[in-house]
Amino acid sequence: MTEIDLKRLPKHIAIIMDGNGRWAERHAMGRILGHKNGAESVRAAVRTCRRIGIRYLTLYAFSMENWLRPEAEVSALLNLLKEYLENEVQEMMDQDIRLVAIGNLDSLGEPILSKINEVSARTSRNRGMTVILALSYGGRDEIAAAARRMVGDCLAGKITPEKVTKELFADYLYTAGLPDPDLLIRTGGEYRISNFLLWQMAYTEFYFTEVLWPDFRERHLLKAVEDYQKRERRFGRTSEQLKT
Ligand code: FPP
Repeated sequence: MTEIDLKRLPKHIAIIMDGNGRWAERHAMGRILGHKNGAESVRAAVRTCRRIGIRYLTLYAFSMENWLRPEAEVSALLNLLKEYLENEVQEMMDQDIRLVAIGNLDSLGEPILSKINEVSARTSRNRGMTVILALSYGGRDEIAAAARRMVGDCLAGKITPEKVTKELFADYLYTAGLPDPDLLIRTGGEYRISNFLLWQMAYTEFYFTEVLWPDFRERHLLKAVEDYQKRERRFGRTSEQLKT
């Protein structure tokens, strides 16, 4: 039995959903069916997080690097995403869930972009939980884009170089206004962060599991939260300092 303390939940969980391809291979299916089953795990993760009271859930749904995959796989992933948004918007309204998308969204093209805009606008006043989809997202690209806009503001005289602090810089990122993740979960047995939320994960706790994403269900998520709750987050301080 998983024992979690509902009063000490991570406020923000981020997930690298890995292993769809290997799952499909193990089940003698094409990779695209792996992603389709992965979309079911997305639904399950959103439901569980909402049920236990997680406030923010960020999902790495499509990375910048994913554009390099075969065209058929890229379009299948984008189609799954569109289907997900179409099918889940009512559930998001019922469950008071707000949808936010981060990444180089323009590169997704129509009609995905207008679907994202429509669902984001429709759910924008929901406050129960925020689901953040990282799409066409790369951490270094995000930081470079933020620097570009900040330099632009400097040249336009809106800010001066002395005003540049880590807090100001964070306001130029896609995640402006969102809290940093407390817990990162990566499925699929790889131990890396793959260009995900590089700036935002400075103090995030990492949890890796061998479970392949299409198999990831409520009990796996609760186990990750339980593991997180056993850790002591010191943010550079000593254990003694935390007691005072
Ligand atoms: C990694 O598996 C997963 C992805 C590249 C995409 C994640 C997408 C989904 C879970 C489905 C669609 C998303 C939503 C929000 C509905 P992989 O193909 O890299 O697996 P492998 O490492 O085993 O090959």
